[in-house]
Amino acid sequence: MPDHQPWWETTVIYQIYPRSFQDTTGNGIGDLPGITKRLDYLADTLGVGAVWVSPFYPSPMADFGYDVSDYTAIHPMFGTMEDFDELLEAVHERGLKLIIDWVPNHTSDEHPWFVESRSSRDNPKRDWYVWRDAKPDGSLPNNWLSYFLGPAWEHDEATGQYYLHSFLTRQPDLNWRNPEVQEAMFDGIRFWLDRGVDGFRIDVAHVMMKDPELRDNPPVPDDWQRRFKDHGEYDRYLHIHDKGHPDIHQLFRDFRALLDSYQPERYSVGEIHIAEWDEWATYYGEELDELHMPYNFSHIHAPWNAAEVARRVNEIEDVVPEGGWPNHVLGNHDETRLATRIGEEATRVAAMLLLTLRGTPTLYYGDEIGIIETHIPSDQQQDPWGRRLPGAGRDGCRTPMQWDTSPGAGFTRGNPWLPLTGDRAARNVETQLSDPSSLLNLYRALLRYRERSAPLLVGDYRQFDAPDGVFAYQRTVPGESLVVVLNFSGDAKRIDLESTGTIAISSEPARTGEIVPGALTLGPNEGVIVEVD
Ligand code: NOJ
Repeated sequence: MPDHQPWWETTVIYQIYPRSFQDTTGNGIGDLPGITKRLDYLADTLGVGAVWVSPFYPSPMADFGYDVSDYTAIHPMFGTMEDFDELLEAVHERGLKLIIDWVPNHTSDEHPWFVESRSSRDNPKRDWYVWRDAKPDGSLPNNWLSYFLGPAWEHDEATGQYYLHSFLTRQPDLNWRNPEVQEAMFDGIRFWLDRGVDGFRIDVAHVMMKDPELRDNPPVPDDWQRRFKDHGEYDRYLHIHDKGHPDIHQLFRDFRALLDSYQPERYSVGEIHIAEWDEWATYYGEELDELHMPYNFSHIHAPWNAAEVARRVNEIEDVVPEGGWPNHVLGNHDETRLATRIGEEATRVAAMLLLTLRGTPTLYYGDEIGIIETHIPSDQQQDPWGRRLPGAGRDGCRTPMQWDTSPGAGFTRGNPWLPLTGDRAARNVETQLSDPSSLLNLYRALLRYRERSAPLLVGDYRQFDAPDGVFAYQRTVPGESLVVVLNFSGDAKRIDLESTGTIAISSEPARTGEIVPGALTLGPNEGVIVEVD
C-alpha cells in the first residue's frame, strides 16, 4: 500500500440522518446521544470507517435542518454541545472519523443575519443576501425558479424588494460575493475544525455562486433529456445562470486552503448535481486544490442493468483527474430507497458493487438491512417538497432505523416521527444478525474483507469481458489481483476468468471458499469476488 493514502480514500462513509437513527429521549426523533449509543454497531458490528451526520444545528426545521439558524450550535432537539463533544470523542476513540454537514448556500429566514438583512435597505447586512428590485414593469427580477417549485424570488413587504431563495422561501440564499459573508461562514467552519471534526459534506456546493448579472435561464431545448429526477416546472429551464458560475472555484480554493491549514488532514465532499461529467470533475480543482471529491450520484439515476452501470463507472473513471479519487453513492436522504429503486433481489449485487469499485463508498443508513421506501401520500408528507410536488416527497427514504423487533424497532420508546416499515419484524438489525444469509451479514463480510484487501482499497480498476447482463472487473495491486463478477440479470451466466482462483466472498454465503477452475457459473443476481491465483 502507498505510504501516504489519505483516510478518506480507504474509508467507507456511513450517512446518518440524525432524526431517524436513534432516539434516546422518547420523543420519537433521533438525537446525538443516540448516535453515540450506536457507535459500537458502526465500528464493530458493521465495520465502517467514517460517519457523516446530516444537519443537527438550530433550525426552525422548515427543511428538516437544511435551514440553519445558527451554524455554531446544536438544536436542543438533538442535544447539547456537550453531547456533540462526547460523540466526537467516542467516534475518535473507536478510530472512526466524523464528517458534518455544512449548508453554505442558504440560511434559515430565522438566522439573525437574515433578520437584520431584511430589517431595512441600509442595514449593514443587507448585502449578505441577494436583494433585487422588481423589473420596471413590476415583474420578478428574473426567471429563476426554486428547486422546490415556484419563483426563486420572494417579495418582502417591509422593504419593497425581492430576495433570492434557490430552495424554500424560508431558505434565503447568502450572497457569497460579499467578502464579509465568506469570512463569517469560514469562521463557522473554523469553529468545528477547532473542535476536531474530520470533514464536511457541503450542501448544494455548486449552487453557491450565481451569474453576477443574474441573467435569465434559457428554456431547455426540444431534445433535452432529464439526467436527474423529475423537478416539475424547474426542468423547463437550463440552469446555467442560477448556479455553477466559474467564480465558485476560487471560493473552493479558499475553502480548501482553510482545511489544509489544519492537522491532521481534514476532508471535504461536495453535493454537486452536475451530470456533465467533465464539468463535474472541475470541482477537484485544476491543481487538485478544491474539494477532495464531488459526490458521484450517477448510479442513483442509473437504469439498473450491467451495461448501464458499467458505462457509468467507466465514465467516472475517465473524468476523475490524475491524483483525484473517485467515489460511489447508491442512496441518501433525498432519493428513493435503494431496495425499492432497484428491487430487493438486486440489493446483494448492489452491496458488492458499492464496496468493491475503486473509490470511496458512501452507505446510507438502513440500506445495509435493505429498508424499503415507505409510501407516504403527498398530503401526509412532512417534507415540504413532497407536499408541494406530488411524487417528490422524501419522507419515504427517511424512516427510522430498525434495530430490533420491539414496537418502536429499538429506535424509540415513543411514537416515531415517521412510520416504521411494514416488514420491520424481519427487516431489522437484530434479526438479520442472527441469519447468516442476511443482507446485513453480507455487508459485514464485505466490509471486513475490504478493510484488509489492498486490491479493493487502492488497486487499479479494469473492466473484464463478460456476457450480457454481467458486469465484471479486475482490481489489482502488484502481485495481487481480484476479479469481481456481478450478475445483474435474472438468468444464470457463465464467465471465463482466464485463470484459476478462489471465491473470497459470494453473495451466496455457501460458495465462499469455492475453487474456480478458470470458468464460473453465477446464479441470477449473484455476485462473487474471486482471488486470482
Ligand atoms: C440538498 C439536501 O440534501 C436536501 O435535503 C436539502 O433539501 C437541499 N439541499 C436544500 O438544502
